[in-house]
Amino acid sequence: MTTFVPPRLDTNPHLPFGDQRTAPFYGKDILSVKQFNHQDLEYIFAVAHEMRTMVHHIGTFDLLKGKILANLFYEPSTRTSSSFTSAMERLGGSVIPINEVRYSSVSKGESLPDTVRTLECYADVIVLRHPEIGSAALAAKYARKPIINAGDGVGEHPTQALLDAFTIVEELGNIDGLTVTMLGDLKYGRTVHSLTRLLSLFDVRINYVSPDILPIPAEIIDELNERGIHQFQSDNLDEMLADTDVLYVTRVQKERFVDEAEYESVKSAYVITPETLSRAKDRMIVMHPLPRVGEIAMEVDDDPRAAYFRQMEYGLYVRMALLAMVLGKA
Ligand code: NCD
Repeated sequence: MTTFVPPRLDTNPHLPFGDQRTAPFYGKDILSVKQFNHQDLEYIFAVAHEMRTMVHHIGTFDLLKGKILANLFYEPSTRTSSSFTSAMERLGGSVIPINEVRYSSVSKGESLPDTVRTLECYADVIVLRHPEIGSAALAAKYARKPIINAGDGVGEHPTQALLDAFTIVEELGNIDGLTVTMLGDLKYGRTVHSLTRLLSLFDVRINYVSPDILPIPAEIIDELNERGIHQFQSDNLDEMLADTDVLYVTRVQKERFVDEAEYESVKSAYVITPETLSRAKDRMIVMHPLPRVGEIAMEVDDDPRAAYFRQMEYGLYVRMALLAMVLGKA
């Protein structure tokens, strides 16, 4: 039997851990995927991979002992908020959870800048989810401590995009050369907005399949065209499926619709079933940021290509990496 000997986190030169106040992300906000380059991603993935190894071998360790995270959520969340909590606690830190802002002073009319200035008195880093585009940037303007954007309305969800890209690397080995098909609500889906931008740092082909009324924003098409990315739009999944290496399925974002009848007309536009996957490659993956509300039939879950539950777990490692990085320990 071999026994795992935990590495000395602060001295082992082979691990990207240590008290490196000069580390590139120390004290930085994470607001948009636009702030990352290819080299940053390699670094984040390397740290996340080490986190994965550490969690598998020792579960919890004290890299962020004594540090405090404030989890400030103005919109519902299961995975993002609990994975940030788990990430902080697995690194030995602790969490102030504000998942129900209506029980906080926000319900008394407190502004976002004031709420953030309050929490940073008690915490070392703030994770923020808010319904308005630009809210994370606004919070960062007022905060001295790092702000991590956990979703700003229909804007961005950079930590999700990082975990999505990490999932692709861990599952398929690399991102270059792949064909990624984005399916569903591409208009309001902030995870798609962030992931497409992040993927444009690689040599990928991106297909967009959505109902006519939920297209990928023109602004994103333009940005990716400037980077020379091959992009194709359709409302027909069959045209794209056979060549797809990553099928990224999304929920139609009910809460973003003004007209409920319009939501009803598109909510079941695409449903992935075992029959759908019988027409896909043997070596491909199906991803979904979750929650799903019918876009992927439960019968697909047992297919080894269904990566969406593994994707959630990769999220823990990426968020551990990001917390360690912004707090100067990676
Ligand atoms: C996504 C979100 O909040 O944008 N969920 C998540 O963070 N995993 C996707 C969604 O809500 O559909």
